[in-house]
Amino acid sequence: MNIEKLFNEEVMSLDTYIMFKLKEETARLKDELIAKNRAPISLSMGAPTANPPKALLDRLKEILDEDGIHMYSIPKGEPYFRKAIAQRMKNRFGVELDPDTEIFSLMGSKEGIANLVRFITTPKHEELEKDVIMVPDPCYASYLQFVKCSGAKAYPMPLTEENDYKPDVEEIYNQILKDGYKKENIKALFINFPNNPLGISTTREYVQGVIEFCKKHEILLVSDAAYCDLYFAEDEKPFSIFELEGAKDIGIEFFSLSKPYAVTGWRLGWVCGNKDVIQRFGKGKSTLDNGIFKALQKACAEILNSEEGDKYIEEGNKGYARKQAIMVKGFKELGWPMKNVPHTTFYLWLPIPRNYNSAFEFCQDVLRKSGVVLVPGNAFGDYGEGYFRLSYVCSDEQLQEVIDRFKADGFYY
Ligand SMILES: Cc1ncc(COP(=O)(O)O)c(C=O)c1O
Repeated sequence: MNIEKLFNEEVMSLDTYIMFKLKEETARLKDELIAKNRAPISLSMGAPTANPPKALLDRLKEILDEDGIHMYSIPKGEPYFRKAIAQRMKNRFGVELDPDTEIFSLMGSKEGIANLVRFITTPKHEELEKDVIMVPDPCYASYLQFVKCSGAKAYPMPLTEENDYKPDVEEIYNQILKDGYKKENIKALFINFPNNPLGISTTREYVQGVIEFCKKHEILLVSDAAYCDLYFAEDEKPFSIFELEGAKDIGIEFFSLSKPYAVTGWRLGWVCGNKDVIQRFGKGKSTLDNGIFKALQKACAEILNSEEGDKYIEEGNKGYARKQAIMVKGFKELGWPMKNVPHTTFYLWLPIPRNYNSAFEFCQDVLRKSGVVLVPGNAFGDYGEGYFRLSYVCSDEQLQEVIDRFKADGFYY
């Protein structure tokens, strides 16, 4: 069968998502690595390896026996789930949201962001006719695939040390127009703080400026807050865009239960904010699925505003602080410059050693010699070249083992 005739050009141009590619490659090398005492240690996926909160699992088991719980839900989410989300937004950020009109459930925030991109863009083949989404660079690699798959253009907003990770959005906007893209085709601007892959947060002043920019140019502000509960320094405590003036006029924000409660496989999240955008998004979503498994919604609704849930997040963050300290100490010993390390997420973003020409070359060498799976920075965008990302989500012992292997195998900065 000629699949080129079957699939559209955008899908034909896609490669397997980087994390799955790394998984496949690691599985291929596994036996060889074990034979030389270098069993793979994966620092690639942003997926906590701990068990979810016990209270959550216990409740889920009970709920499974309830009448009607195994039947279809609704795309926007059960009322108890949306009410709990509204309460969580109030408790955590002091933000008021109407559970009926301003909150919509998602099968993970990845699904929600992917579908949003599909809903707001029209695929075009002519480059300068394309709809434009302004995305951070480096960014969560999926944004680039979502936009590509939708036949649109992901226009990079560089996050660099030189611009203090605060790209000048007005300047970039002017550059987009200078490049020949059409003003009316600039659809949305993505921000993601705390950031994947850099692990940084930002200031309220910066985001306030971005809100004003989006209002002025009528561009949808899309905030991805998947890591908002992963912080271990009070002065870096992440905020919601809705704590800021005017955000609801122009913005929506995506949240995920995956990382804070270690339930990446359950697929739960929500989007909230501007009611018109949420309602229209909901019409699109209602053609795609029947919502999240009700038992998961019910158990998660309870954990969102519970003492057990908050304690679990607090303990998890203490663990990440400890794990980060192991890695920072280890990489310092290996000669890496470890200054201004942020205290959010579970990522470290580091430069490759000077004797390598590319991030890919370094990560391949580390995988083949030491069995440690890292992600080359350019997988997150062109500005990521020369860096690599690691997720310190595994056990303390495994993290120390990574440092020991680096020393033994000669990986110094
Ligand atoms: C920035 C960012 N947003 C969204 C997601 C998706 O999370 P989920 O689909 O599990 O909610 C991820 C996952 O790694 C992420 O890093």
